[in-house]
Amino acid sequence: MSVTSTDLITARNVRKRFGAREVLGDIDLSVPAGSITVILGTNGAGKTTLLRILGLLEPADEGAVAYDGIVPGVSTITYGASTRSPAQDQRYLPLRRQMLLAFQHPAVFSGSVLSNVTYGLQLRGMSRAEAEERSMSALRDAGIVERARQHASSLSGGEAARLSVARALALQPRLLFLDEPSASLDPYGTKLLEDLLLHMRDDLGMTAVIVTQDIFEARRVADQVAFLHEGRIIEQAPRDAFFNEPRDDRTRRFVAGELLV
Ligand SMILES: Nc1ncnc2c1ncn2[C@@H]1O[C@H](COP(=O)(O)OP(=O)(O)O)[C@@H](O)[C@H]1O
Ligand SMILES: [Mg+2]
Repeated sequence: MSVTSTDLITARNVRKRFGAREVLGDIDLSVPAGSITVILGTNGAGKTTLLRILGLLEPADEGAVAYDGIVPGVSTITYGASTRSPAQDQRYLPLRRQMLLAFQHPAVFSGSVLSNVTYGLQLRGMSRAEAEERSMSALRDAGIVERARQHASSLSGGEAARLSVARALALQPRLLFLDEPSASLDPYGTKLLEDLLLHMRDDLGMTAVIVTQDIFEARRVADQVAFLHEGRIIEQAPRDAFFNEPRDDRTRRFVAGELLV
């Protein structure tokens, strides 16, 4: 992990309910700049919901999330009953533009694979020629350039995951959120994705939050790990401390591959 004193994201006391059910509670999470944070947890733990809240797609019910040093004048979002969803609030558009979210089932726009990458660049004011050049280079690095002219909706799951990676490479967001990125990738695609993540962190200074159920993937890419269980963060620690000296017994059992009930 690069040595830095800055936390790019700080979540405090975040709560989220769906109807009467609380799916996230007491969430405190810090995401250091220039690092890869892995949110680890079993099915239904609340990982996707937490990622959507951090990525400003979904409002929390309570708590606050601070985004430091990303966009001047935009820092903390404090949630309450009257808070509009940041996804609809124009004030947060500059902040949202510094983020890229890629989900387990990537949402691809209609149009070609290439236009799926150029779209975000042109939205940010880049000329078409420049956007295409940069996008082709990103598609090449993501191992999917031969599909550039193909319709994006015709991609296989693994190819769509590569398209998500190409978008991240082309856009170079300050913050990258990935939800189970390797779920639909074969081992070769997973290796490519993980290498690209490390490259984006080390050479582009990008900060990433990655959700996974895979402890081996967490070991390979994480600088720090947060273990989410039944809507609570049980433990957050640097990678080696998390895996070698887990403090919580539930973390220890999860890391040992024992099923949590
Ligand atoms: N839009 C929604 N409406 C109601 N319940 C939801 C919604 N989204 C998620 N949930 C519920 O919240 C819990 C956490 O979901 P999720 O964040 O997707 O977990 P994970 O990604 O860890 O599998 C699950 O029980 C899920 O059914
Ligand atoms: Mg999920």
